[in-house]
Amino acid sequence: MIAFRFEELHPAAGVKIAGLDLSKELDSQSVGTLRDLFDRTGLLLVHDVGLTPQDQAYLVGILIGEAAPVDRAAAVARTHTYANYVTNKDEDGYAPFGELLFHCDMMWAEAPTEVISLYGCRVEPPTVPTRFASMVRALETLPADLRSRVADLRAVHETGQQRRGAHKDQLVIPQHAVLRSTVKPVIWRHPRTGRELLYTSQQMTARIEGLDPVELFAHLYRPEAVLDHQWRQGDVVVWDNLALQHARGNVEIEGPERTLRKVIGPLPSEMGIAKPKMVRAGAE
Ligand SMILES: [Fe+2]
Repeated sequence: MIAFRFEELHPAAGVKIAGLDLSKELDSQSVGTLRDLFDRTGLLLVHDVGLTPQDQAYLVGILIGEAAPVDRAAAVARTHTYANYVTNKDEDGYAPFGELLFHCDMMWAEAPTEVISLYGCRVEPPTVPTRFASMVRALETLPADLRSRVADLRAVHETGQQRRGAHKDQLVIPQHAVLRSTVKPVIWRHPRTGRELLYTSQQMTARIEGLDPVELFAHLYRPEAVLDHQWRQGDVVVWDNLALQHARGNVEIEGPERTLRKVIGPLPSEMGIAKPKMVRAGAE
């Protein structure tokens, strides 16, 4: 029997789940249903849960891989919990200030992180939302003429943050010790689900040979295609980093506390774990 209830969160992506107890081993039918919902909608949200780091890792671990893990320990072993939180109240936190444009984590890598989760440990209103846009839906709804123009094009994705958007002075620039880049087809296939993606982002796509990527951003990030998650303490959000992009508006160190615990899976490369130095645009 499935041990939870669910409902659609947003037409573009996601389901909201209630009654899910992640402190215990879930039965195989519940795990299978969560995996199906996740692969179909790209994001799961649960409100008002008290999650230990291991409970959060369990949620991530059951959603990755070609098949469900055999048990809780196997699920947790597939994941990585960051020691540094995403927070504006610790100078060693991830991205403690500034705006992050839409991106997939590690989009600059040949094999980016597959699944990301954030858990609202300490959240004071009003919060800066995490924003999501689906690359699956973007391709499904891309006008036919634009689709045919990008069908054979390739994009270059780089570490750092491209200087784009309406508030360039608010951007926070992640500085990695080693600069990385990768080249991928603009229409890329999700390695696990096989779904086609419009794989280009405002933050990390440096260029597309034969097209200004800005032409695609108006479609990818049109208001009705974006899900804004307004954080509440005790929320956990887990999303498919290869199906959805995420972004965040400007966060101030002096603002309300926004401390989120991040768990990802599968285990990333050393470069995926390393915390980049975060520098304000213009202060590099
Ligand atoms: Fe990110």
